[in-house]
Amino acid sequence: MKLVAEAELDNVSFEDLQPTQDDSLADILKGLACSPKQINPRFFYDARGSELFENITQLPEYYPTRTEAAILQNNAEDIASLTGRHGVLIEPGSGNCEKVRLLLDALRPSAYVPLDISPEFLSASAGELGKEFSWLNVQAVCADFSGPWQDHTELPSGKRVVFYPGSTIGNMSPMRASRFLSGLRPLIGPGGGVLVGVDLQKSERVLNAAYNDAQGVTAAFNLNILNAVNALTDANFKLDMFSHHAFYNSDQARIEMHLVSKAEQVVNVGGRAVLFADGESLHTENSYKYSLESFAELAAAAGLKVQRSWCDDDQFFSVHYLGVTGW
Ligand code: AVI
Repeated sequence: MKLVAEAELDNVSFEDLQPTQDDSLADILKGLACSPKQINPRFFYDARGSELFENITQLPEYYPTRTEAAILQNNAEDIASLTGRHGVLIEPGSGNCEKVRLLLDALRPSAYVPLDISPEFLSASAGELGKEFSWLNVQAVCADFSGPWQDHTELPSGKRVVFYPGSTIGNMSPMRASRFLSGLRPLIGPGGGVLVGVDLQKSERVLNAAYNDAQGVTAAFNLNILNAVNALTDANFKLDMFSHHAFYNSDQARIEMHLVSKAEQVVNVGGRAVLFADGESLHTENSYKYSLESFAELAAAAGLKVQRSWCDDDQFFSVHYLGVTGW
């Protein structure tokens, strides 16, 4: 691992803890060897994929982003009454650091620690944020949040709150989500908390529309994962040989995204021939939807307790503040 510290602004620091070893090919081949075939959704977010995801968040059909933003904005003071003020706010997968802006004036954290795996994106976003909020100590860390980043990073003292918006937790299976949440306990300690955004179960019509938008942006986002795989592994996926398929699986309470092969075809991936049958599906993403009760149960299984939840009037989306139980 390399460690670089550079401070363009007095209130912004940047640590690069990115592992240099790239395990993308092994991960992709492992997914393609599964039945049904799958690709890890982390490969969605190359430069074009991140741009397409930004476009998704603006779509009329994609309600989660704007609904969550309104919840955070309308309840910032109430949220601060639970998180406390002047603590250390840690955001895994912080992306463009957009949502935290809605909370900063109310929470007035002593430090904000955005973590992301994209060094350029992170340093640009952290710099912008530091410029806009000159009183804020921004301690950006470029690392995989699931790795040992804390061993290399000194966090300021104070109550720790992990901010995990966007229902990114919904892209994990419930079992992984529970493991993820329980893994936060040592980081936040007995007095700390987690502020998490969770998409809610609702009519299938609304859910299906959110992942099958009229402009085809979600389809382009889904197909772009093949471009990302081509670039990473020297593969030769042809995007026009697959079609976007997204649907709500009510038994599993999740949206599933797939790419369906339009014909029998052989794709070369990192020197291996991978055969797709006509109509065969490549599973690219799950997006789990919870009820307030089922999410509280998941949190409890992880040793965290929902202290308060906030929703929009339609109960489309929820934000929860979780505290640690039974330390
Ligand atoms: C990032 N994540 C919460 C999005 C979701 O809704 O599951 C990703 C996404 N996939 C298609 N549209 C948006």
